[in-house]
Amino acid sequence: MRTILFLTTLALPLMAQDGGQLYGLYCSACHGADGKGATGGQFPPLAGSEWVLGNPDRSIKIVLHGLHQPIEVAGKTYNLEMPPQGAALPDEQIAAILTHVRASWGNKAGAVSVNQVKKVRAATTNRKEYWTAAELLKLHPLENVKPPLANLISYYYKGAFKSMPDFSQLKAAAVEEEPRGLIDYSSYAKTDSFAMMWEGDLLTPAGKHEFLLDSDDGSRLFVDGAIVAEIKTIGPTGRTVKKVVNLKEGLHKIRVEYFEFSGNEGLSVGVKFPKQRNIKWLSKEKGQTSAKSWPEIMLTPADNRPVIYRNFIQGSTARGIGVGFPGQKNMVYSADHFSMELLWGGNFIDAGHHWTDRGVGYEPPASDKVFSLSKQTAYSFTSESATAWPASSKATPRFRGYQLSPQGNPTFMVEVAGARVFDGYESVTDPSPSLLRILRLQGKPAQGISLLIHSGAHEAARPDGFTAGGLSVRLTGGTFRYGSNVVMLDLITPEAQVRYTW
Ligand code: HEC
Repeated sequence: MRTILFLTTLALPLMAQDGGQLYGLYCSACHGADGKGATGGQFPPLAGSEWVLGNPDRSIKIVLHGLHQPIEVAGKTYNLEMPPQGAALPDEQIAAILTHVRASWGNKAGAVSVNQVKKVRAATTNRKEYWTAAELLKLHPLENVKPPLANLISYYYKGAFKSMPDFSQLKAAAVEEEPRGLIDYSSYAKTDSFAMMWEGDLLTPAGKHEFLLDSDDGSRLFVDGAIVAEIKTIGPTGRTVKKVVNLKEGLHKIRVEYFEFSGNEGLSVGVKFPKQRNIKWLSKEKGQTSAKSWPEIMLTPADNRPVIYRNFIQGSTARGIGVGFPGQKNMVYSADHFSMELLWGGNFIDAGHHWTDRGVGYEPPASDKVFSLSKQTAYSFTSESATAWPASSKATPRFRGYQLSPQGNPTFMVEVAGARVFDGYESVTDPSPSLLRILRLQGKPAQGISLLIHSGAHEAARPDGFTAGGLSVRLTGGTFRYGSNVVMLDLITPEAQVRYTW
C-alpha cells in the first residue's frame, strides 16, 4: 500500500501528461468537449477565445485562482464563476491542459511550459481571491484585440441631470482606466440618475469620417475638442445623429459625454472610416444602424402602382405619408404641414423595423441621398397680403385626406380660404424620369393662396424654375416667388405643374 502511494506521487511529474485527457476531466464539464462552452454555450468557449491565445499567464492565473464577474469572450458577455483549480492541479497538468487548449478546435498558440506555470504560481502564492476580467486585462491586455479607443478613461458622476451637466463643475464619483477601449456605461447603470464622460484616442487614416451617436438620454461627441454630434434632450434611442468630419492621419482626441435621467439607458458611438461601409463601434453597445435586428421588408411598388406607407418617417412629421412610385421616385407628404417634405431616388422604405415587434421610432428613407424640401421654420413667409400656406390665422388650411387615381397615384386635398387645392403626384419618364406634381384649385378662394415649394438654399432662381443641391424644380402655369431662403408658388391659375427631376 505504502509503496504504491509512493510510486504514484513520484511517477506523476515524470509521466508525460495527456492534456486532452486532463481537459476532459477538469475543464470539459463547463467548457464543453468541443471547447464551445457547455450547455449550449451557457459557459464561455475556449475555442476561438481571445483569452487563451497570446500570453499564457492570463489562462494560468485563471486556472490557478478562478475567475468571476463579467467577462466578454468572443463578443459575448458572461457573468459567472469559475472555481480555482490551483490546489487540485500540479504545474505539469496545468501546462499540459493549456497546451492542449491553445492548439485545439482551431486555436493556434504555442505550448505552455511547466516552468511558466511554476513562475506564475510562485508570483501569486498569496492570492486568495478569484481574478476578474478587468484586473487581468490591466496586467495582460488581449494581444489579438486592438482596443477601438486607446488610453480610454471613464468618469462617473452621480446626479439627476435633465440636460448635459457642466462636467468642469462636478466631482467624479469614480474614474477608471478602460483597457478594453470601449465606451461602456453598463457597470454603472444599476441605478438611474448619473452622467459619464470618456476620453480616449482614436487612430485614423486621412479622409472623411462619418461619426454616429445615439443615446437614451442625452449625449455629446467631441473630436479634437470640437463638438461633432449632440442629443440634447431626455428621450429614447433611435435619434441617431450622423456627422462627417475630415480628419488628418494620426491620433485624435475623442470625448463622449452622457447623461441618464431615468428609465431605459443606451449609448452608441460609431465611426465609418473613409470608403468603409461598416461601422466601427467605439461603444460596447452597437447602434441601430449596424447589424439590423429586424428582418428587412423593403417596400416596392408592385404592378406598376405606387405603394403608400403611413408610419413615422424620419425627416417628416408624425402624419407623414410616404409614397414609393414606380421608377424609383419616392416622396413623403406631411399631413401636418400640407406639403411634400422629402424626395429621394432608389429604394423606398424598409418597413421591417416598424412591422416587427421592434416597431418604435422613425424609420429613415432607404437611401443616403434625400432632398428635404420644406421645413416648418420657413413658414414665417407672411410679409405680404398673399396667404402663406399654411401659416395664416385667417385661412387655416385643413387636410381633407387623399384619393388614389385608377393607377394608384395619390392626390392630397387641402381646404383653404373657402377653396380646395388638389395636390396630385405621379412618376413620369417623359422627357426624363421625374416626379410630376399637379396642383389644381377648385372654387374661389377668399384671398390669394400661396404655398411653400422649397425652404433652404436654392440656386439658379428663375420665374419658372430653380435648382437645389442636385434637384431641379420646373414650373408650368404660374411663377415662383423667391425669398432669401424660401420659394413660394402663388396659385393664380386653376392648374400648375411642378416637375422634380434628379
Ligand atoms: C465549474 C465550471 C468550470 C470549470 C470546471 C472550468 N471553468 Fe473555465 N470558466 C468557467 C466560467 C464560468 C468562466 C467565466 C467566469 C466569469 O464569468 O467571470 C470561465 C472562464 C475561463 C477562461 C477565460 C474565458 C474564456 O472562455 O476563454 C479560461 C481561459 C478558462 N475558463 C479555462 C479553463 C480551463 C483550462 C479549465 C480546466 C482546467 C477550466 N476553465 C475549468 C467555468 C469553468
